[in-house]
Amino acid sequence: MLTHSDYLDLVQQLKHNADAYYNSTTPNISDSEYDKLYQKAKVFEEANPLLIDPSSPTQTVGSPLKENTKQFQHQSRMPSLQNLFSKDDLDAFYKRLLKETETPTIDLSVEPKIDGLAVAIHYKNGKLDVAATRGDGQTGEVITDNIKTIQTLPHTLDKPLTIEVRGEVFMRKSTFTQFESEFANPRNAAAGSLRQLDPEVTRKRQLDIFIYQGLGLESSTHQETIQALKTLGFPTIPTPTVSSDPEQIHDLCQNIESTRYDVDYEIDGAVIKVNQLSLHDQIGFTMKAPKWAMAYKFKAEQGTTQINDIQVQVGRTGILTPVAILEPILLGGAKISRATLHNMDEISRLDIQIGDTVTLERAGDVIPKIRERHQKGTNRKPFKMPSHCPVCGGPIVHHEDDVAHYCTNPNCSAQVKGRLQHFVSRKAMDIDGLGQQIIEQLVDEGLVTSLVDIYHLNTEQLIKLDRMGEKSVSNLVKAINSSKEKPLSKFINALGLPNVGERTAEILAEEFGSFDALANTTIETLIEIDSIGEITATELIDTLQSQSFQKLLTNFKNVGLDPKQDKAEIIESILTGKTCLCTGSLSKPRSEIEAELKARGAKVVSSVSKNLNYLIVGEKAGSKLSKAETINKKDPIITILTEEELEALL
Ligand code: IVH
Repeated sequence: MLTHSDYLDLVQQLKHNADAYYNSTTPNISDSEYDKLYQKAKVFEEANPLLIDPSSPTQTVGSPLKENTKQFQHQSRMPSLQNLFSKDDLDAFYKRLLKETETPTIDLSVEPKIDGLAVAIHYKNGKLDVAATRGDGQTGEVITDNIKTIQTLPHTLDKPLTIEVRGEVFMRKSTFTQFESEFANPRNAAAGSLRQLDPEVTRKRQLDIFIYQGLGLESSTHQETIQALKTLGFPTIPTPTVSSDPEQIHDLCQNIESTRYDVDYEIDGAVIKVNQLSLHDQIGFTMKAPKWAMAYKFKAEQGTTQINDIQVQVGRTGILTPVAILEPILLGGAKISRATLHNMDEISRLDIQIGDTVTLERAGDVIPKIRERHQKGTNRKPFKMPSHCPVCGGPIVHHEDDVAHYCTNPNCSAQVKGRLQHFVSRKAMDIDGLGQQIIEQLVDEGLVTSLVDIYHLNTEQLIKLDRMGEKSVSNLVKAINSSKEKPLSKFINALGLPNVGERTAEILAEEFGSFDALANTTIETLIEIDSIGEITATELIDTLQSQSFQKLLTNFKNVGLDPKQDKAEIIESILTGKTCLCTGSLSKPRSEIEAELKARGAKVVSSVSKNLNYLIVGEKAGSKLSKAETINKKDPIITILTEEELEALL
């Protein structure tokens, strides 16, 4: 067994070798020797948790970047791409390009869109200098050491060039099979592996990269750039193909789609770019994306599999959700073994039974959905909703006017767990370290029966739980304490009040400023708030004024949780006192734009009516825009603005 001082020497040795490996191309020791030292340190640390050196490479494993990371300001913005979904969209894009460039035809280059994580890598005098994630497009996180673990990426170039290359980091499908239990899909695996602190971990994840852009090279077309990067030794995006015929460009996109299952990486579309680089500046950018490139998105992925069983899950509000237990199937790179069936109506609509084969669909990152029954099973068995809660055995109710079945016991452990999970989630109190497994134990051990019990937990109780060490307990205690500082809107959201989601919670926090003011309000006051209807107001008042809720509130105050929120100060503007509504996809989250509008005195409403003054429209604005246009035909009262026009107006 190692002594403490042997251990400290070992940590120094590990740190030295990790550095040598990641910052030079010639490591001092082999991978397997490094692994042995690493394991030795781990064995000592497991036996002596109080003697762990926090700087040991073993201690940074899996921890997300966050405040420890260095931010990186991109020299030029890393934009995202707008999407095309059909041949018609593609034709419209092509026509627009001809108009913008005033040419009769234009060369476009087509290549696969890799489903990974965008990075920018800078080379200084031929040496890999710094690499960063895309982040919000302007500021990313420095990930140089992690990027250097990608085997196919050169650390040194043959020429002393100072250039920036951009590309997509991804995990190969064949590599992902080793990490399936840790990540939902190869993209999450790539992102999780790149955005954590220990390059040793990243290296083991065997990431790969395709470079799709080079800045600072002397080429005149995209295709030439890719060729030049290839000659310099970069792993470049597979074969950009150029054509000026829209039919052929469409065929090229479809060809990429038809090969998507034959290649060892996830492709979620094709990227179409203007080949001539000098035209890029001429064509320019919208607020969020280049106008000279588009992503041609593929249709949702489909597959068929069998329903082996239908089980019932109880949620935080007591709703019973039937879930199909499926014969596992790989779809969009992820292994799918469950799919929600929502409610009994959905089961009837699909007309499915246990034993049937169904068609499953998964578009992008969306939760997989059962589309239709593919084939009836030979020994099919109908599903019946249980008469008692499968978790607590309590009675189930089903009102005629509601599709859902409910477990009515508020102390049902499934409901308590669900409420806790919601309370600690990122958009609510954001208590890191209270994951599902810990919550399960806390409720099953009877340590937590009400939300406020979280604030009474102590170190002795927590250390006894599975998977909890000294460090995780102390981090968790800190996270619980600092959650008391969360703004009122997060607290309101965390409580899981009926019909109150993140957005309504923000509105209520702004409107009332303190929880007491909200708890003592009236139905009339609530209804006056534009986005709150009569049903929500009534249910909310019922809950807020119930004895059990008032007691919960007092208990929260007793543990020091009584968040207040300043009412926003209003900047007088042309929008002050006017009603506004945003629709379509905008360049930033809708909530951000709405907050800007409110800060200027506007009232944000949720539907188009004659009382609306301004409609702010993004890409693909739909029914709200048509409704405003119809109203305007009779009497032009609604001012329709793009984001740019809104900015100009303000
Ligand atoms: S070009 C200005 N090419 O797609 C050009 N992007 O939605 C911007 N991506 O953030 C990107 N494969 O992460 C380009 N062959 C490819 C790509 C690609 C994947 C990603 C990239 C970008 C996102 C845009």
